[in-house]
Amino acid sequence: MTNEELIAHALKARENSYSPYSHFPVGAALLCKDGEVYYGANIENASYPNGICAERSAIFNAINHGKRKDDFVALALIADTSVPCSPCGACRQVISEHLNPGTPVIMSNLKGDIKVTSPEELLPFAFVLEEKR
Ligand code: THU
Repeated sequence: MTNEELIAHALKARENSYSPYSHFPVGAALLCKDGEVYYGANIENASYPNGICAERSAIFNAINHGKRKDDFVALALIADTSVPCSPCGACRQVISEHLNPGTPVIMSNLKGDIKVTSPEELLPFAFVLEEKR
């Protein structure tokens, strides 16, 4: 699957965003080796900190379907930003634990700008529990 095709899935995922507070819908799509694509959108709450970002939604969606880091091929995200939408700090921590180093993280926006990065570039010196090292 091309980056553009995975971004198209992320755009589709964005349609399910529940973002009445920020009015900032985000979509994410996580491609697996078996060809499955797991969708995630940001889901907000009146108690603001209880919302979740699109990237974590997609990753947790895949994990809930039994997928694990070795299954993941690439993660795409999209939002209406001036430059390709970049994951927040909390998502970077989750990405660093659940995506292998080198897994492409494809950031994009509605204008068609694309920047491809990686978990380790997004979060150098990520927190890792000693027992997981
Ligand atoms: N958000 C995401 O879903 N992903 C990002 O990469 C940036 C921020 C969401 C969180 C919140 O629902 C809204 O965008 C505004 O911050």
